[in-house]
Amino acid sequence: MVAISENAQGRLTIQTVEIAPNTTAIRSLDWDRDRFDIEFGLQNGTTYNSYLIKGEKIVLVDTSHQKFRDLYLNTLKSLVNPKAIDYIIVSHTEPDHSGLVEDVLQLAPRATVLASKIALQFLDNLVHDPFSKRIVKSGDRINIGKGHEIEFVSAPNLHWPDTIFSYDRHTEVLYTCDAFGMHYCSDDTFDKDLEAIEADFRFYYDCLMGPNARSLLNAMKKMGDLGHIKIIANGHGPLLYHHLDVLRECYQSWSHKQANKETTVGVLYVSDYGYGERLAQAVSQGIQKSEVGVEFIDIATADVQEVNELALRSAGIVIGMPPSDNAAAHAAISSLLAVVKNKQFVGFFESFGGDDEPIAPLRKRFIDLGVKEAFPAMKIKQTPNEPLFRELQECGTDMGQLVVRARNIKQVKSIDVNIEKALGRISNGLYILTTAKDGTKNGMLASWVAQASLKPLGFTVAVAKERAIESCLQVGDRFVLNVLEEGNYKELKKHFLKRLLPGCDRFATINTQTANNGCSILCDALAYMECEVIRTMECSDHFIMYCSVEHGRVSKPEGITAVRHRKVGNYY
Ligand SMILES: Cc1cc2nc3c(=O)[nH]c(=O)nc-3n(C[C@H](O)[C@H](O)[C@H](O)COP(=O)(O)O)c2cc1C
Repeated sequence: MVAISENAQGRLTIQTVEIAPNTTAIRSLDWDRDRFDIEFGLQNGTTYNSYLIKGEKIVLVDTSHQKFRDLYLNTLKSLVNPKAIDYIIVSHTEPDHSGLVEDVLQLAPRATVLASKIALQFLDNLVHDPFSKRIVKSGDRINIGKGHEIEFVSAPNLHWPDTIFSYDRHTEVLYTCDAFGMHYCSDDTFDKDLEAIEADFRFYYDCLMGPNARSLLNAMKKMGDLGHIKIIANGHGPLLYHHLDVLRECYQSWSHKQANKETTVGVLYVSDYGYGERLAQAVSQGIQKSEVGVEFIDIATADVQEVNELALRSAGIVIGMPPSDNAAAHAAISSLLAVVKNKQFVGFFESFGGDDEPIAPLRKRFIDLGVKEAFPAMKIKQTPNEPLFRELQECGTDMGQLVVRARNIKQVKSIDVNIEKALGRISNGLYILTTAKDGTKNGMLASWVAQASLKPLGFTVAVAKERAIESCLQVGDRFVLNVLEEGNYKELKKHFLKRLLPGCDRFATINTQTANNGCSILCDALAYMECEVIRTMECSDHFIMYCSVEHGRVSKPEGITAVRHRKVGNYY
């Protein structure tokens, strides 16, 4: 069955499908959700999945986003008399799943809300009238008749601190809410088309789950004890069924890799305050470019011991400022001051919650202990937008590069000298790549550029994974390749190697023109080409980008390209 509504919020539809005996998925399909949330980068919309299980007792697992209010409640009423609902399982309290709990409770006044202890504390603030509730934790079960027995698994800190999974022994369906989800909207109820979903599945993992890899490994261990899982009924995107084993294995191996990274940065923030979580995600995307693990921790709910352990195993700490009246968060931060070491790096950002604790006094306490600041504290005075997220990502990139610098120097020194020397005989030209994306202009000196095809005219460029500019060189992005001229490149080379603070205008002091694609043509370059990234290939520490050339001009026909001759191949 499909219910449809089209309004200012874009196309919204609801799909209801029987996924197992007595079990209906109510999927709110949000086709046009844009990428305001950082994890919606692939722009394939999203879904909010809720489930109705009709044993002798009736159970609703999660609800939907407020924007689906009428559609969702009408659909629910068409499936069941809401007064007959006995239990509402709230897997976690993020508003896109629990936004309609209060509305449903008004229709289902005798329902008992089943959730973790922390989730019920959150709900007490969200739901105005008193409601019946019961805390559930790992091992707790409810028998709802017709063979359905539901067992709960505590799975805290999976991007929200209060998560539980619920497993129906009868149907072998595991309800996981955000875990194993993806922002992908289509009419397919299940994961039939693996190729179509795999990029979104991975991207969602990297943004939301990777920074909680240790918590995820704990939750997956508990999942292993439940018995056979036939369907993973997630909270976003198609449900996992056809490729469940493969996708579960992906989570397992990505999380192992993430949790065992040699170097880690701890990101501390309060998940339900201000823009804390989105800003933390932006920083962590930058940090992860340097093959550095990120671990998130919600300092409003984590215990002090956990925070200290994270600080002890981290090379850097990023703090999203909590509200000034949150005693638990302040206790966690104070305890940090007792364990940080002077070889660690620290960075601060405001959460834009209206009542952020000021950064300056806290920053001073860290600096006085000898801890180095990885990026200038980010004071956020306007509603966070795309350029700001990008700036924060650059802060993360700086943090990532700093914490791995010592490790990288050691690795480079260990390369065989003869190989190094031989590789050094490969020579290339010198180029400046310029980009313009989401209102931000960027530029990078590059020499690992080589022509790669004749039809269409194309070339490759190798861009290190930790480069800030890498996020502006995704497939489909356009840029300009400026070719530097022999005898006339030193100033430009120096200019583009200068370190600038995140957000500074790299082009303010040089002569440029704007290309058709919006990127900068350097007036002192020998030639330029307007290009598009067609394909990328991951090669260990670099991405190789294959690009096609759309336009191009030479400014001085007699000029020759600057060439980079090296003696060793362990740098550019
Ligand atoms: C001569 C030379 C050539 C370079 N070529 C490349 C290159 O091809 N790819 C790359 O990723 N970085 C290259 N780099 C490094 C970047 O230009 C430089 O580190 C970067 O602009 C700094 O940006 P970041 O802060 O994002 O690291 C080169 C550096 C030099 C000195």
